[in-house]
Amino acid sequence: MTHKPLLATVLGERQERPPIWIMRQAGRYLPEYREVRSKTTNFLELCYTPELATEVTLQPLRRFDLDAAIVFSDILVIPDALGQSVRFEQGEGPVLDPVSAESIAGLGKDKDALDHLAPVLETVRRLRAALAPDKTLIGFCGSPWTVATYMIGGRGSTDQAAARLFALRHPDAFAALIDVLVQTSIDYLVAQLEAGADVVQLFESWALNLDDDAFASRVIEPNRRIVAGVRARVPNAAIIGFPRGAAGNLARYAAETGVNALGLDYATPLDFAGNHLPTSLPVQGNLDPLRLVAGGEQLDARVDAIIGAFADRPHIFNLGHGIVPETPIEHVARLVQRVKNG
Ligand code: CP3
Repeated sequence: MTHKPLLATVLGERQERPPIWIMRQAGRYLPEYREVRSKTTNFLELCYTPELATEVTLQPLRRFDLDAAIVFSDILVIPDALGQSVRFEQGEGPVLDPVSAESIAGLGKDKDALDHLAPVLETVRRLRAALAPDKTLIGFCGSPWTVATYMIGGRGSTDQAAARLFALRHPDAFAALIDVLVQTSIDYLVAQLEAGADVVQLFESWALNLDDDAFASRVIEPNRRIVAGVRARVPNAAIIGFPRGAAGNLARYAAETGVNALGLDYATPLDFAGNHLPTSLPVQGNLDPLRLVAGGEQLDARVDAIIGAFADRPHIFNLGHGIVPETPIEHVARLVQRVKNG
């Protein structure tokens, strides 16, 4: 089997230079993405059209020497597959008809969620066939708490107050919602791995604003159940967990969920891994996306500092959150060049 440096790193093998992919690497900072996107009436249509989703997944790899492709889709395809209305509105981000304590029991009852997600699995198969053998194919889903914040709040928010209150006021309905998300996520990730994904990532983008009790029950436990459920069916599944904002809960997340590798957001101090995480634990991250917008010497210096800080362990270079649309393409090229060649 051909060596895939990024997969090998997730599995614990340190590389001479860190492999690199860029969170949200297919997207609006690329003119060729905007061109394809403009041919579709809505964003979910792009996610569910394998020909177009395959094309936009591959676009960043044609420009840059990245080590992985991430299947083009979104974390909100799961609520969509469960029958909740999901729309992406210009300048607004996602808008959902919020679930209620009463409506949660009906989620996923009308149709099979995996049937609905079949086009994404077809995209994974096409990517597997199209990718060079040394490139890692990453599948993903949103973690249950993060997806639940959108399902309950109906849109993104800075404090997730709607979901945090809902979880406290309606603990039984909330537990039922997490259960359906855990089960659907396991089925979906297993299907992505069977369709050809090498690695899957759990995006827990809203792992912040939680006290430690809430973090344990809403973040650690559902992520742990997904890791265990996936491994029960795909024993050696390679899994990256990205609990954005977990801060003081990060080491517990790594120890208790069973993920192979830990994604670090850009606010995580560079000495955190050395002080709090086992040296054998692979980490991924953690450049501030705005450093990539600004470019220049501060970018080079920070890239070198990140590589230096994680030099003693398996490390995948990445941003500490998604690339933003205003990022100059030349800065991305400069970043990849520097990570690969020093
Ligand atoms: O290359 C890739 O990574 C593309 C696949 C991908 C998308 N979204 C495409 C997308 C992935 C891995 C995601 C993950 C995602 N989606 C997360 C977790 C990562 C993170 O950023 O925290 C979250 C929270 C979402 C939900 C979501 N989708 C939001 C909040 C938005 C609106 C904000 C925005 O960036 O526009 C989206 C839309 C979205 N998902 C776009 C893309 C390329 C832009 C929509 C468009 O092109 O019209």
